[in-house]
Amino acid sequence: MKDILQQLEDRREVARAGGGARRVAAQHAKGKLSARERIDLLLDEGSFEEFDMFVAHRCTDFGMQDMQHPGDGVVTGWGTVNGRMVYVFSQDFTVLGGSVSETHAAKICKIMDMAVQNGAPVIGMNDSGGARIQEGVGSLAAYGEVFQRNILASGVVPQISLIMGPCAGGAVYSPAMTDFIFMVKDSSYMFVTGPDVVKTVTNEVVTAEELGGASTHTRKSSVADGAFENDVEALAETRRLIDFLPLNNREKAPVRPFFDDPARIEPSLDTLVPDNPNQPYDMKELILKVADEGDFFEIQKDFAANIIIGFIRIEGQSVGVVANQPIVLAGCLDIDASRKAARFVRFCDAFEIPILTFVDVPGFLPGVGQEYGGVIKHGAKLLFAYGEATVPKVTVLTRKTYGGAYVVMSSKHLRGDFNYAWPTAEVAVMGARGAVEILYRSELGDADKIAQRTKDYEDRFANPFVAAERGFIDEVIMPHSTRRRVARAFAALRTKKQTNPWKKHDNIPL
Ligand code: HXC
Repeated sequence: MKDILQQLEDRREVARAGGGARRVAAQHAKGKLSARERIDLLLDEGSFEEFDMFVAHRCTDFGMQDMQHPGDGVVTGWGTVNGRMVYVFSQDFTVLGGSVSETHAAKICKIMDMAVQNGAPVIGMNDSGGARIQEGVGSLAAYGEVFQRNILASGVVPQISLIMGPCAGGAVYSPAMTDFIFMVKDSSYMFVTGPDVVKTVTNEVVTAEELGGASTHTRKSSVADGAFENDVEALAETRRLIDFLPLNNREKAPVRPFFDDPARIEPSLDTLVPDNPNQPYDMKELILKVADEGDFFEIQKDFAANIIIGFIRIEGQSVGVVANQPIVLAGCLDIDASRKAARFVRFCDAFEIPILTFVDVPGFLPGVGQEYGGVIKHGAKLLFAYGEATVPKVTVLTRKTYGGAYVVMSSKHLRGDFNYAWPTAEVAVMGARGAVEILYRSELGDADKIAQRTKDYEDRFANPFVAAERGFIDEVIMPHSTRRRVARAFAALRTKKQTNPWKKHDNIPL
């Protein structure tokens, strides 16, 4: 009996060693942790339960029968993050470059199936040379199996991808279909075709980092939602994100203990909006002052900064925040901002996370580039996302909201539940100056007349009361009491139930 126990220990030892000490040292030399070290940091201490430690590939081509590593290049299983269950896979680059064989993919599929069945998030740590070249088409089919599961799990359990090494070719499409992608700076990249192919086909010369590094994907392409300095930071921030999320689409996000008075008054908010309407201010200040303990988990902070998205808690409950940012492009909506916010609103709605919207928007960004780029369709994404969302929706107008953007930004007309306005708010078809230039074109040569017309228009429309008279604004509130009003609104909406008409699925303008 003792021998058998020892045999198990020996086999475990071999599996845990992955590709061996030399390859693990090479991994460390690149500033990367090993697959198992990553799991240890992501999960609560001692909570990891492994599956399929001894799985072996079945390939015999190209001498593969002599290249066996128990576990086949990916560590899978489940554990807890602050006591809540998650499923994980962590590709082991030290074993055949973390390449994906049929059996490697089958391990990932197994934990994905269990995650959906048992209602817990899937977190994938990606560090792989892609399809196992020796297995050919079998490996492609295996990827297809993973993709299909990503699709079916979408909206059922949260899926998070950490890119911690190479992720290239069709392999990128598994992370691409997950809810959040985080990358590690300087040690990870994602691209459909690498620099060599790009050079051959388009004659463009570019490094892997420039083509698909963390900076590219968080600033230019918006493929990734966050970039972190190293593996440790990426894993710690992933733990932080998971705390905001429910385990699945039938559960609510956890309510965390809070030590911040929901009725806290913030006198500084009374002067947040400058007297000069052309002067910007930082909307993040409002978000931080409304959030429990000023804790804000921002998503995609380096992309389309004219809109801010992320998670806060109010009375311990997770809330998704969407806010126009006046200090970037005057907070206008454009293609990038619309896409960014629309996907976030849909995530929140899919997982029953209430949405808080702070509005100060001059409208959609004009321009040939915007029109050619399809701002009509992209803007419609955000409109559609807000309109279909059935989660509690609380909106606060801080300053201006003009034209179509007014309707889009969680207005009453899109089933906003509580729509508040600060006294500084104005709801109008457009700004006073623009309106007067259209209505009184013949008087444009007369500066005094135009100034008077502009003042008249402002007196009539540059306030929240015209909209409030029609019930489009539920209440005009004091800025200093925003946290209290918002907290009470969400409290009143805890039992909200709203359903959309039956359909197979909608046809959001993609
Ligand atoms: C089998 C692989 C492999 C792969 C790497 N290795 N990629 N083995 N299949 N796809 C092995 C290497 O042979 C090497 O083994 C070890 O992993 C480490 O690789 P190195 O090249 O030494 O590491 P590095 O210099 O860091 O370069 C990493 C790399 C490079 C850039 C990822 O290995 C590479 O270009 N690999 C091939 C990438 C690729 O073309 N994959 C297919 C993409 S198409 P030894 O024994 O020497 O240590 C794809 C389609 C998916 O993935 C489709 C889905 C539908």
